[in-house]
Amino acid sequence: MDVTDLTDLTDLDRLVAAVRASSKYRAVNADLIRRIGARELSGRGNLKEALKAVKNKLHQVAGAYLDHAPRYERWLQELLAASDADSLRRVCTRLMSRHASTQERLPILDAFYRAIFAAVPAPRRVADLACGLNPLAIPWMGLPASTQYYAADIYDDMMGFTQAFFSVVGVNGVAESRDVLAAPPRGHFDVAFVLKALPCLEQVDKQAARRILDAVDAERLVISYPAHSLGGRAKGMPAHYERQFEQLMAGSPCTWQKLVFQTEVVFIVAKNRL
Ligand SMILES: C[S@@+](CC[C@H](N)C(=O)[O-])C[C@H]1O[C@@H](n2cnc3c(N)ncnc32)[C@H](O)[C@@H]1O
Repeated sequence: MDVTDLTDLTDLDRLVAAVRASSKYRAVNADLIRRIGARELSGRGNLKEALKAVKNKLHQVAGAYLDHAPRYERWLQELLAASDADSLRRVCTRLMSRHASTQERLPILDAFYRAIFAAVPAPRRVADLACGLNPLAIPWMGLPASTQYYAADIYDDMMGFTQAFFSVVGVNGVAESRDVLAAPPRGHFDVAFVLKALPCLEQVDKQAARRILDAVDAERLVISYPAHSLGGRAKGMPAHYERQFEQLMAGSPCTWQKLVFQTEVVFIVAKNRL
């Protein structure tokens, strides 16, 4: 698409339209594109350069993780065809492998949610922020049937699929496309997952971790970091993120507990405890 074609629009409108004209970013939340786009336009003053910079940023924060062409319609049919709990888990496992972040959690999935939900009281309301395909792990969580599950990520189509998944498996859930940094969800949660998301959110806003910690009203925040880079490098990453987390918590009255898994380091923060 020639970004100079759309004559009656502002540069920012043109930039958002041009980003969403590409197959990779057509379903990305327009508010997030606008936010990143406004900054890139004011910093560069050149639409084509700003467009390139926005796409690069979206790749870093989201595109790098997701299967290039997710087939949500077909995925939903596969879920609907699952006739029992075992086949449902098999389908969910296969689908979770289409997002790099849930894929690398698959080998630890059982132990991961067993340990987390042993450490927190049974939740009535769960939030899953920057969730990717993690809601597909609900069959491993052992949640009470009445638990409300709120999920948010920046892909409109992924969240449409997640909402349909909730209906298929009978989860009392809401999934919505949302930039959780600019507009953190309102309401009180017992548990809020922020799984491997802070390093991505910090690519857009260096204060992201602090903002999320302050803005999300949850009894327990379950914050995790990857033990390896996307490319597989592990050198010093857990120690690096542990230092980062400790800096974030310095001076905070919150208490926390650390869980270490082969591919992920988890901190369960008791937010309203003291
Ligand atoms: C490393 S993945 C983690 C996914 C999931 N939490 C997990 O651990 O499986 C980061 C996720 O953050 C999402 N994301 C990036 N920026 C976001 C934002 N501002 N608001 C909501 N989600 C965002 C991406 O689309 C991606 O799914």
